[in-house]
Amino acid sequence: MAKHFDVVVIGGGPGGYIAAIRAAQLGLTVVCIDAWQNAKGGPALGGTCTNVGCIPSKAMLQSSEHFEHVQHGLAEHGVEVKGVKLNLGQMLGRKDGVVKQNNDGIQYLFKKNKVSFLHGRASFVKADAGAYEIAVSAPANESVTGKHIIVATGSNPRAFPDLPFDEQQILSNTGALEIDHVPKKLGVIGAGVIGLEMGSVWRRLGAEVTILEALPTFLGAVDESVASEAHKLFVKQGLAIEMGVKIGKIKTGKGVRVEYTNASGAAQVLEVDKLIVSIGRVPNTDGLHSDAVGLKLDERGFIVVDDHCKTNLPNVWAVGDVVRGPMLAHKAEEEGVAVAERIAGQHGHVNFDTIPWVIYTSPEIAWVGKTEQQLKASGVAYKSGSFPFMANGRARALGDTSGLVKFLADAQSDEILGVHIVGPMASELIAEAVVAMEFRASAEDIARICHAHPTLSEATKEAALAVDKRALNF
Ligand code: FAD
Ligand code: NAI
Repeated sequence: MAKHFDVVVIGGGPGGYIAAIRAAQLGLTVVCIDAWQNAKGGPALGGTCTNVGCIPSKAMLQSSEHFEHVQHGLAEHGVEVKGVKLNLGQMLGRKDGVVKQNNDGIQYLFKKNKVSFLHGRASFVKADAGAYEIAVSAPANESVTGKHIIVATGSNPRAFPDLPFDEQQILSNTGALEIDHVPKKLGVIGAGVIGLEMGSVWRRLGAEVTILEALPTFLGAVDESVASEAHKLFVKQGLAIEMGVKIGKIKTGKGVRVEYTNASGAAQVLEVDKLIVSIGRVPNTDGLHSDAVGLKLDERGFIVVDDHCKTNLPNVWAVGDVVRGPMLAHKAEEEGVAVAERIAGQHGHVNFDTIPWVIYTSPEIAWVGKTEQQLKASGVAYKSGSFPFMANGRARALGDTSGLVKFLADAQSDEILGVHIVGPMASELIAEAVVAMEFRASAEDIARICHAHPTLSEATKEAALAVDKRALNF
């Protein structure tokens, strides 16, 4: 007979594994089913994020940044290094090691929290007498039943029609993290988050990188002044970014030939050794057999959920990339926790207005809340204040003065509506803004808080002061 659980979690990425741990903490019996296989066919918990996303990309971003820094960033500090060589095998091996540490860490957390784990692909079989039957493919090869089901099956990279990823010449994020030699010429389609992060990695390692983007505006979701500052810096670093293109035929042979028209409509050809296609991701419900129980998907394939991550079926929930909202690991985690708490009778909560975004380029870009263009479009009266890292003592000492911090606050109440950063350690600095917005702080609140000197966080305080036109150091 199939083993019964209070909660069956399908998918072991950040949405699923965190939901499983939280549900187990709350005293529920939990199994997490995950299909991901490592190179040896074994389990590799952590989903896209751990295996081919957040973790390996940040490992490669860090390593490639060291490589660039040691060549071009140390001389001004009086540190002379000669004969710098790239050992790409070691760099890729380190990245794989970091991934494995995370895979193993999740397995350990499952044991510690008494979460059962089954390795295989889960599919709905039927709903019967208040429980759902789920079949799990090999290697687990068994069936379980669950009172509650949490679907956290994530997303897959979007391919061009008729141009599947071969991961040799046409690369998704998976192939982009595994190139075993630095290509002379690398093309990237899509100047989004993956295009900029992966383009940066391979440029730093020596590739000539060209990014082709369909939209006329660079990073349209980012605050305009931050996006324009970032664009300037990336171009100066040597990333060739062409906006407003229309991609035509893409042919593979000895290399990859991309035909496109540029923003003025002129026919162009880009010849590269490899091409990363990073044009967004699509929800993944492959093999889930959602129709066996009537689980509703929308026209784009996302599982339909309400604000509480409830699907159209009783006791079936869905979280993370497979549902609406930003495709971010921390968003998936927050939803996973909230759903586990709701199942246990608590009041789980996710504030979608304070989910931070980070692009881990150099300099990093990070933001939370509304952009200036969104406030203008919605007719909200606002004040803004900016502070450049150029005027920050710690940034000067670091030798990295690029970028700025920008605050947007309500014109009347002074409540912080958005904070936008491009600059060193923006990923860490944004946390202060998230806390402030979560507590509905005003710009004045941040301006009155003592920030240690000399720190990059003083730029945040100064930008808050600038909202009231009283920055001290600029
Ligand atoms: P996933 O992580 O995709 O996990 C889903 C899991 O479910 C997978 O293991 C899959 O094998 C499994 N699965 C699917 N169907 C079944 C089934 N039927 N049965 C069993 N198992 C199944 N986000 C950030 O916040 N920060 C970053 O820095 C960041 N960097 C990224 C870099 C790259 C290159 C990419 C591609 C993504 C990045 N993301 C980042 C996004 C982040 O990876 C996703 O938002 C996150 O992984 C979503 O988590 P999830 O649990 O919803 O799905
Ligand atoms: P994206 O949505 O960030 O960017 C895709 C880009 O491709 C867009 O600018 C879009 O206009 C462009 N595009 C789409 N079709 C095109 C076409 N036919 N020709 C040319 N350009 C085209 O998607 P991306 O970069 O694939 O990443 C997917 C998601 O993964 C991100 O949206 C994000 O949610 C997540 N991610 C998060 C990271 C982070 O948090 N640091 C890092 C990497 C990915």
